[in-house]
Amino acid sequence: MEHSDVADDLVAVLVSEKEIQAKIIELAAAIDADYAGLDVLLVGVLKGAVMVMADLARAMHLPVKLDFMAVSSYGSGSSSSGVVRILKDLDYGIEHRHVVVVEDIVDSGLTLSWLVANLRSRNPASVEVCALMRKPDAVKQDVVVRYLGFDIPRDFVVGYGLDYAEKYRNLPFVATLRPSVYEQAPG
Ligand code: IMP
Repeated sequence: MEHSDVADDLVAVLVSEKEIQAKIIELAAAIDADYAGLDVLLVGVLKGAVMVMADLARAMHLPVKLDFMAVSSYGSGSSSSGVVRILKDLDYGIEHRHVVVVEDIVDSGLTLSWLVANLRSRNPASVEVCALMRKPDAVKQDVVVRYLGFDIPRDFVVGYGLDYAEKYRNLPFVATLRPSVYEQAPG
């Protein structure tokens, strides 16, 4: 069977399952405290943010609502194209609502800055961002990540929602991917 042992494709665990879960509890508590008494809509960015969204929402005590958007920025490659397209929009309007965008990782920041501008144009009460991880280039974009999990190096990582060519999303930790895996890929 092709790739029967996923561990062979990984170099090292960068953020362990335990570290992720502890950080999610902290982020959830911070959001709970800041939005006490308010109606919060968590907007997850598919597919990468599904794990963060599921764990964050369950760690929160506020009665939040959930919605999802799907945008394309990477295709199946490992570097940002800078081109953002909405593949799936929100199910409901966000006018006068408090929105927290839930992201897995901010790399170039292009996707997020585009998304935040797009959401702000819909006249919400507020838009803030919660991201589990951020890479160094993200600072070039003018996006404030109000709730940040970890600053990580530039390496391409997979797991806990993050994929390479749709694989590795179900790993409960975040790991660096062996460059030979993406260097061999066709196209
Ligand atoms: P950005 O526009 O460069 O900030 O890229 C944002 C999106 O690219 C993230 O939401 C991820 O889906 C994807 N991405 C960025 N870095 C990685 C990575 O290291 N592994 C897997 N996906 C990534």
